[in-house]
Amino acid sequence: MKKARILVTRRWPQVVESVLAERFDAEFNVSDRPMDQAALADALARYDAVLPTVSDRLPAALFEQDALSVRIIGNYGVGYNHIDIAAASARGIAVTNTPGVLTDCTADLAMTLLLQVARRAGEGERELRAGGWTGWRPTHMIGTKVTGKTLGIIGFGRIGKAMARRCHFGFDMDVVFHNRSRVDPAEAARHGARQLYTVEEVLAASDFVSLHCPGGGENVGLIDARRLQAMKPSAFLINTARGDVVDEAALVRALADGRIAGAGLDVYAAEPQVPEALRQMENVVLLPHLGSATAETRTAMGMKVVDNITAFFEGRDPPDRVA
Ligand code: DGY
Repeated sequence: MKKARILVTRRWPQVVESVLAERFDAEFNVSDRPMDQAALADALARYDAVLPTVSDRLPAALFEQDALSVRIIGNYGVGYNHIDIAAASARGIAVTNTPGVLTDCTADLAMTLLLQVARRAGEGERELRAGGWTGWRPTHMIGTKVTGKTLGIIGFGRIGKAMARRCHFGFDMDVVFHNRSRVDPAEAARHGARQLYTVEEVLAASDFVSLHCPGGGENVGLIDARRLQAMKPSAFLINTARGDVVDEAALVRALADGRIAGAGLDVYAAEPQVPEALRQMENVVLLPHLGSATAETRTAMGMKVVDNITAFFEGRDPPDRVA
């Protein structure tokens, strides 16, 4: 049987690339640079499957061209707001993602940001490396205690729950959350958390706010100036979800005016651009979208894509079909 023609838009872990090359007529973007819109449009017209990542934008316009050959988009990642799902579906194109396998590592990274910004670890490291450390003293680099504080989670999916468990069972924190749908209180309690009614209630109650909702759609600008104002002036914002969930200009103003204490960010509205003002702030920890970046997880994500497209081309339902 003729192998399906697939295009992989970035380099993947070697072990996964080998499996893809064995099972499919696979082409890899060996430059590992983001493909532009013309190249992606061309790929949708030439391959049976395109395997993009969060750095590839697939808006409706790309699915509206006449001659489409692509039958499945196997996204390498759990978030898929960079793909216009409705436009893909309208052309009968399946879309899959990679849930589950990146839950722990993304929650670990949210925890890393929370601890780092609370304990001023970035500032301390920068000072030491620059030769500015003059020795231990009682008033040096004083941060904020984490243990026993209140964590507010926005979005109680897999990663939100994993973050709740870490904070409640590991750091004795009181964990409250907002979720669009109601969560059974017994289920919430199993993760050491309880649901509050509104986003505002969660923001007002929390010493740390961690975002775990999807990006795009109605979540764009969810954390805007008004909601930042609802946070305690001593609170920190952690974002490992999607950059567009936060109004970045409003965040810069809130940080500059001292309306919140700091932020730990792994994601940005227009990656890889990061607002210059944020880069200048000492009370902000900035990471380059590393949530799922461990060898184990990146391999597991790739193998999930393999499973999804293998099922599809064998006429079975892909396990992680989102459209
Ligand atoms: C995800 O899986 O959504 C990560 O953010 C990378 O896309």
